[in-house]
Amino acid sequence: MKTKILCFLGLTACLASLAYAQLSGAGTSSTICFSCHQDQAKDWSTTWHSRSHVDSNPIYKAMVNYISRVTYQPEESVLVGCAQCHNPKMTIKEISGKDSFTLAKVLHVETEQTKKVDASVGDASIKDGISCNICHNVAKINESADMEMRGFKAVEWGPKDMIYGPFEDDGRAGLHKSTQKEHFTNPDKLCMACHFGGETNPKSKVELYATGKEFIESGDTVERCADCHMSTKRKGIITPEITRPGITAQERNIRSHLFEGARNSNILKDTLTLKAKPSGNNLILELTNLTPHKAPTGFGGRSMDVKVEFIKDGSVVNIQTYTLEIVYLDKKGKETIPYIATSIKSDNRLAPNETRKLNIPKFAGATSAKVTVTYRLVSEKMLSIINFSDPIFNKNYPVASIDVNL
Ligand code: HEC
Ligand code: HEC
Ligand code: HEC
Ligand code: HEC
Ligand code: HEC
Repeated sequence: MKTKILCFLGLTACLASLAYAQLSGAGTSSTICFSCHQDQAKDWSTTWHSRSHVDSNPIYKAMVNYISRVTYQPEESVLVGCAQCHNPKMTIKEISGKDSFTLAKVLHVETEQTKKVDASVGDASIKDGISCNICHNVAKINESADMEMRGFKAVEWGPKDMIYGPFEDDGRAGLHKSTQKEHFTNPDKLCMACHFGGETNPKSKVELYATGKEFIESGDTVERCADCHMSTKRKGIITPEITRPGITAQERNIRSHLFEGARNSNILKDTLTLKAKPSGNNLILELTNLTPHKAPTGFGGRSMDVKVEFIKDGSVVNIQTYTLEIVYLDKKGKETIPYIATSIKSDNRLAPNETRKLNIPKFAGATSAKVTVTYRLVSEKMLSIINFSDPIFNKNYPVASIDVNL
């Protein structure tokens, strides 16, 4: 009925409302939203939220494969666990009777359970990752300090055809149901449903992804997650191309949907300030973290290298590198990846808003130095542990640099 009425309103609205009619159907994917919300869709598709499914993220795939091999579990078992945050609408939440499932997988025997799990892991409607219908279908967030209670365990979904957002009313009512929720007027809570800190190895309690916890402990309230990672608010009309007779679209305060990270923005230039000055036999470096979380934060493979190149007669005569990273150990004390770690050997990342001084001994005879700070999505060490290389991940992203006369 709704569709019929809208079809008097012009072709765009008609096609869009046909798309919307599918919203109430089962297994919705976010492509339904794209026809009307092109700006949001364009931004979001550049972000790795859109690639959080194993089929579109090579480093996630490589990690899952490695965990599967060293822990003797089928990849599907690993994926069901990771889906808690990476694909929170995956229908299977836990694998019961893991031993018989593993045995069936090893022997390539198809059972009712393997069929169900395979269908759930390969479900087309979850392949677009942290998509529109993940965030905008969150009806409630259950806050908890328990590391286990993240991802789907932290949220309650609304009805399939309900969209939650930052505004009280859908000014052009009828296009879809929508309601205002506090976790959109203050989105920190929404972000922290997944970015608070969690653990994937319940026995060891090694904490991962503690960005939200770092943020809260910093006490910094100047800027929120969305201010830096979406954009500051600006005036704009949502989907201006959809018009309805007699209804004037309202100008609203909106943000971009870039969820800015190292890969799709230049957010790294706002990570830190770098100062350098000679003092006696040392070069003193001063790094100030400009973020209210650690730098680097998030996924445990992220690292930053501070590299000092001492120069004499125009050539580099000595290089010293200082790496900011977390080092994870397995139960035998060997360096490993976060997900199978039983302890943390060291974590020298910059604390929220910290200023760190580094004393670097000057190289004798050097007349100047070049200091560069670069960011890696995955440290070289971690790539070598899982024996993986890929141009996106095996790359140094520039953060800051400075030249000093000695
Ligand atoms: C990671 C969570 C997340 C995802 C994924 C997401 N959104 Fe949003 N969206 C938000 C938040 C948070 C706001 C509110 C921002 C604010 O006003 O502070 C918002 C606001 C909006 C608004 C209101 C206008 C605006 O732009 O501020 C629209 C429309 C919207 N989103 C559509 C979409 C569509 C379409 C997609 C998929 C292409 C999508 N969103 C994906 C979190 C998300
Ligand atoms: C038929 C076109 C159409 C489709 C399809 C559509 N939207 Fe909308 N949406 C609109 C219009 C128009 C508004 C209202 C804008 C206004 O009043 O300022 C809106 C508003 C919103 C808002 C803000 C609501 C609020 O109360 O804060 C969000 C969030 C949103 N849409 C998300 C989505 C998502 C997610 C999908 C896909 C599941 C989707 N929309 C599909 C047209 C559409
Ligand atoms: C449902 C869980 C979930 C929610 C809610 C969520 N995220 Fe994410 N976020 C993820 C996952 C999973 C990834 C990693 C995706 C990948 O690289 O495979 C991620 C990645 C990111 C990245 C790195 C993106 C890139 O392109 O490199 C940023 C930045 C980010 N999120 C910010 C936010 C902000 C800000 C919010 C709140 C508005 C938010 N997230 C809400 C799960 C979530
Ligand atoms: C003052 C701006 C600012 C605020 C506020 C902020 N961040 Fe960040 N964030 C950054 C910068 C700059 C980086 C890049 C350096 C780093 O990793 O620390 C970053 C990095 C990240 C990353 C890793 C990005 C990647 O490419 O993988 C995630 C995830 C993230 N932030 C999530 C959050 C969440 C969640 C919040 C709120 C709890 C938040 N941030 C608050 C500025 C900010
Ligand atoms: C508690 C929620 C949660 C769980 C559970 C989780 N992840 Fe993540 N994952 C995230 C978030 C949030 C990010 C984004 C952090 C960032 O950008 O720094 C992420 C990022 C990643 C990345 C980096 C992706 C990229 O594009 O750079 C990899 C790899 C990864 N996760 C692997 C896994 C694996 C493997 C599992 C299961 C063993 C898993 N994750 C379980 C929340 C989770």
